[in-house]
Amino acid sequence: MKSVGLLTAAFCIVALFSLLFPALQGALSIGLFFSLVGTIFDLINAMSWEFTGHIDNLTQDSEMMKDLTTFLALGRITGSIKKAKGPFAFENLELKNVTFKYPNATSSVLNGISFKIEAGKHYSFVGQNGSGKTTIIKLLTGLYGDYGGEILLNNVSLHDYPQDVINSAFSNVFQDFARYSSSVRENIRIGDIHTIDTKNDRELIDILKDINFSFQSMDKGLDTQLGKLQENGIDLPGGQWQKIAIARDIVNSASVRLLMNQLRH
Ligand SMILES: Nc1ncnc2c1ncn2[C@@H]1O[C@H](COP(=O)(O)OP(=O)(O)OP(=O)(O)O)[C@@H](O)[C@H]1O
Ligand SMILES: [Mg+2]
Repeated sequence: MKSVGLLTAAFCIVALFSLLFPALQGALSIGLFFSLVGTIFDLINAMSWEFTGHIDNLTQDSEMMKDLTTFLALGRITGSIKKAKGPFAFENLELKNVTFKYPNATSSVLNGISFKIEAGKHYSFVGQNGSGKTTIIKLLTGLYGDYGGEILLNNVSLHDYPQDVINSAFSNVFQDFARYSSSVRENIRIGDIHTIDTKNDRELIDILKDINFSFQSMDKGLDTQLGKLQENGIDLPGGQWQKIAIARDIVNSASVRLLMNQLRH
């Protein structure tokens, strides 16, 4: 912005001086001189604002590109898209004296957590905001590898599993689940990209009925566009969006389902 300011000032001075001499020599009337100088100043001013705007956009875009390139460079993306061989036969999961600290944090979030969960049962983690429930879920789904203690999946350390095998064992609905600006059908089918083309509409509708999803205001059924990107897209109330996310979770054949919710009093 500083360089654009200097450049603008330089243009104005050049314009002023090149018109000043004809004006002094009488080739330009004083009135014409002032109106010309005024118009040229306005023009240069408008152009410099536009130019600054472009530079501003360019800077913002390049910052976004930095994030995107870092994200793409993580490499795990290809790992997680790879399909594990067959469904994962979950038996149990055990945390033994697990400790975890976020990088740059001063204190640990988890201090010596131990518990065991077994196939065929329901469990719930209940705790105050910030007590570490989501962190536990992220640890046991292999998103954070740098923990103390042991996490055993079917009695084998989580460190010994490739990420695609861990991914095939768990499916999850996070508190901040994704809301895709796309059709209801696509929003659900993306829950399992490996069977994305084989699930039929009947199956999807049955899942939605099972979880009491309300089809009100959905005159196009599964083709209804959600989100605000499309002109005919509708935005759902939070609870309805959450049901879409749950349906997305149900189409996934993973053996362990992790559902995260925020209780409001
Ligand atoms: N990426 C992160 N970097 C640093 N600290 C984090 C990060 N994510 C969470 N924390 C901190 O770790 C603690 C536990 O967070 P976590 O999200 O696991 O809690 P929670 O029990 O799921 O809370 P809530 O009920 O609000 O969902 C909090 O103090 C939080 O501020
Ligand atoms: Mg949480």
